Amino acid sequence: MAKRTSLHGLWSSRMAFILAVSGSAVGLGNIWKFPYVAGANGGGAFVLFYLLCVALIGLPIMMAEILIGRRGRRNPVATMRIVGEEEGSRPSWALVGIMGVIAGIIILSFYSVIAGWSLSYIAHAALNRFEGADADLVNGLFGGMLGNWKVLAFWHTLFMIITVWVVARGVERGLERAVRFLMPSLAVLMVALLGYAIINGDFRAGAAFLLEPDFSKLTGEAMLAALGQAFFSLSIGMGAIMAYGAYLPEGTSITNTSISVVIADTAMALLAGLAIFPIVFAHAMDPAAGPGLIFQTLPLAFGNMVGGHLFGTLFFVLLTFAAWTSSIGLIEPAVAWSVETHGRSRAAAATVIGVIIWALGFLTILSFNEFEHIKLFGRTLFENLDHLSSNIMLPLGGLFITVFAGWVMCKNSTAEELDLGTGTAYRLWRFLARWVAPAAVLLVFLHATGLLHFFGITTS
Ligand code: PFF
Repeated sequence: MAKRTSLHGLWSSRMAFILAVSGSAVGLGNIWKFPYVAGANGGGAFVLFYLLCVALIGLPIMMAEILIGRRGRRNPVATMRIVGEEEGSRPSWALVGIMGVIAGIIILSFYSVIAGWSLSYIAHAALNRFEGADADLVNGLFGGMLGNWKVLAFWHTLFMIITVWVVARGVERGLERAVRFLMPSLAVLMVALLGYAIINGDFRAGAAFLLEPDFSKLTGEAMLAALGQAFFSLSIGMGAIMAYGAYLPEGTSITNTSISVVIADTAMALLAGLAIFPIVFAHAMDPAAGPGLIFQTLPLAFGNMVGGHLFGTLFFVLLTFAAWTSSIGLIEPAVAWSVETHGRSRAAAATVIGVIIWALGFLTILSFNEFEHIKLFGRTLFENLDHLSSNIMLPLGGLFITVFAGWVMCKNSTAEELDLGTGTAYRLWRFLARWVAPAAVLLVFLHATGLLHFFGITTS
């Protein structure tokens, strides 16, 4: 079969692809979200279940996304349709791509608001506002920011502008450059922060909380949160990695690339958790404090360490960069789709979609202040957007993607893309993609909705 070529250019090397995919994977999900979601769901057992989800569901689905993307070489909507038709199935597989485009738009709408917090903390850190900080000071800074929607809107707007700007410039020039130096720098900084936490925090309590499982805390909701977090953190289930796969040259190993990215992403999340919880416990703070967790704990560390002024500023600069490279992945499916279907330029597509996401961001902004009391299903607007996209749309998208790769695509096609031969490694992937990943996602869904119980199946 003649191979299609991408309409947006190709990655210049395997390294460029790995950097772009890890740039998309490593972001606020690792450093902001993982610690607070783990904290809110009881720690150890959540983390263990999260690791299982990453290895048994996340890795095979990431491989599936990349291979489908490279085979289709179009935006995720067109790719699912074209590859589906090629494999003798229905064009309606495009719906999976459409759900992904929508999930990306919803996620970026709140992601950008949180990235805005990080931007504003660059300013706080640079102005040395954390110096000698105690709990009152950090709570005051955080609460002051959260309570004022205009402040949140300002930083959210700034973040959306820099995201749209880089996306408008295109794959080659825009995406590649941004990731090359920043990931390694962030990793080095996190290791240094871990060192600080070991010396000055309550490391024993922090590590025990994160690593010692208490299975009585692993409720259906907590399992769903772990599953959603695995999808969110690996950027899978919405076609972002599929869109990146479309720019992947032939002959690059999808398996090795995916394994490297999964390891890097997981290491970063664990590192963040291990650095943050010792500080939480040393200051008798609440591990279940919610989305403000890192913004209320890390300034305590920066404010009381030697060189904290510089270190804190650098940390929030790099965190913002990590968020930025992830945002590019969130908006890419929508932009690629719009360019290919409406014939818009990248710049026009990125601007139009960026404005829609920017406007949607106000739901999140206001849910922290003016609309704080508005609750649907017991959750604020932000919590609903996050739950719907991360815990429902991404796992559902991932479920369809893995069923597509495992059942709709024939063995020859997937074996050809994965280039593993037909030995144990390939068979293991196919078994995970066909059976384990779909069954696990379904079970977690059923368990979280209480339906397992309804069917008379009890898990505890
Ligand atoms: N993986 C990113 C993070 O952990 O911050 C978030 C994300 C980026 C999710 C891109 C989905 C995506 F397509």
